Amino acid sequence: MADRNETIFATLRDGRTSSWIRPHVSGADRLGQVISGTDVDAAIARFERFAPILRELFADGGWDGRVASELIAFAAPESESWWVKGDHALPMTGSIKARGGVHELLCIVETIALTKGLALDMLLTPEARAILGGHRVVVASTGNLGYSIGVVGRAFGLKTEIHMSADAKMWKKDRLRDIGADVVEHACDYSETIARARAAAAGRHDTTFVDDEGSRHLLTGYAAAADELACQLEARGIRVNAETPLVVYLPCGVGGAPGGITYGLKRRFGASVATVFVEPVASPCVMVALASGGVLPPSVYQYGCDNDTIADGLAVPRASSLVLDAVGEAIDAVVAVTDSAMLDWVRKAWHQSALRLEPSAAAAFAAHAPFCLAAASEPEWPRLDKATHLFWATGGSKVPEPEFAALLSPDLADAQI
Ligand SMILES: Cc1ncc(COP(=O)(O)O)c(C=O)c1O
Repeated sequence: MADRNETIFATLRDGRTSSWIRPHVSGADRLGQVISGTDVDAAIARFERFAPILRELFADGGWDGRVASELIAFAAPESESWWVKGDHALPMTGSIKARGGVHELLCIVETIALTKGLALDMLLTPEARAILGGHRVVVASTGNLGYSIGVVGRAFGLKTEIHMSADAKMWKKDRLRDIGADVVEHACDYSETIARARAAAAGRHDTTFVDDEGSRHLLTGYAAAADELACQLEARGIRVNAETPLVVYLPCGVGGAPGGITYGLKRRFGASVATVFVEPVASPCVMVALASGGVLPPSVYQYGCDNDTIADGLAVPRASSLVLDAVGEAIDAVVAVTDSAMLDWVRKAWHQSALRLEPSAAAAFAAHAPFCLAAASEPEWPRLDKATHLFWATGGSKVPEPEFAALLSPDLADAQI
């Protein structure tokens, strides 16, 4: 194992595709105690409780108020079965980060309502808006978490302050300013930006910090997606069991979104689901955490990686400790993919299925081939010839046209990477 891990570190140092895989697929017994099934059920119930309020809040957008996405069939190679979970097109927000971010916001709004004696059906009244308008939500983001919190927080009348790392794209900062969020730019990486945002929020009155590295409400919001997916698979007649396992490819930054979903999926399907985290070769923070086996997650810089990637949402040098405590032993594999493989899949997903994905989301597809190769050499892994492969499309529907055209153009894209 030690030799294997040394090979992984050397491959990462060279900026090449790399795979880390567990000898066995983990069951639900490997889940940590950080969150519980009851917490996940409470998150599902909270989303349901608030759906009519969100529907009314976004009446102009024609949203039914449910943070839910489609399960989309994708043309698979040969006899394989490929599906896409379309979080890239989640209503209003256009990214997976809405699942955690909106859930955390609903927790904040609910707490304020309880404290002030406001019933939920009063939340859209001018009195409630005046109360909510006195409260500030502070968060660090590479763009998508901030946007989800900005869009929904501003709609409730909350003040929102989004701290953005150097990797954040200009258009993501602009669209946040357009909706009235305060944007604070930092010329540093995401881990440092979270620390700065945490410090900026500390001790401020009527302020809540949404901690992308350490929030249980974010995790349970993501975990709620597993039940939604389970219902969709059942409705399509897709069975998940030892003979026909489900392999889920989850783009990973700090680890919250893929971690929460792993929790929810393992709770539902145990070892019949294999969870594959996907990271850029420049920012493989969960891979180095699992391969090094230390108590605290190390930084990717220690392993010669530079955290410089086209996948802004995944440009994270250090994984969340909370996520590793919650699901570290339940992550079955981690694949680090190159920027050019992600770009290749941005183009394929668009040309084959008109899926508008950002590179962070296209990463899921890029992991399929290296993962299958790694799994085939593990004697204790189930055979995957009858597996269903599910690619979690985590963002992209809101990428503006010029930026998307640039991603599709081989000349521009090659110049960028
Ligand atoms: C498009 C996209 N995919 C995946 C992720 C990864 O989520 P997490 O940082 O919670 O691991 C992000 C994070 O911002 C993202 O923006």
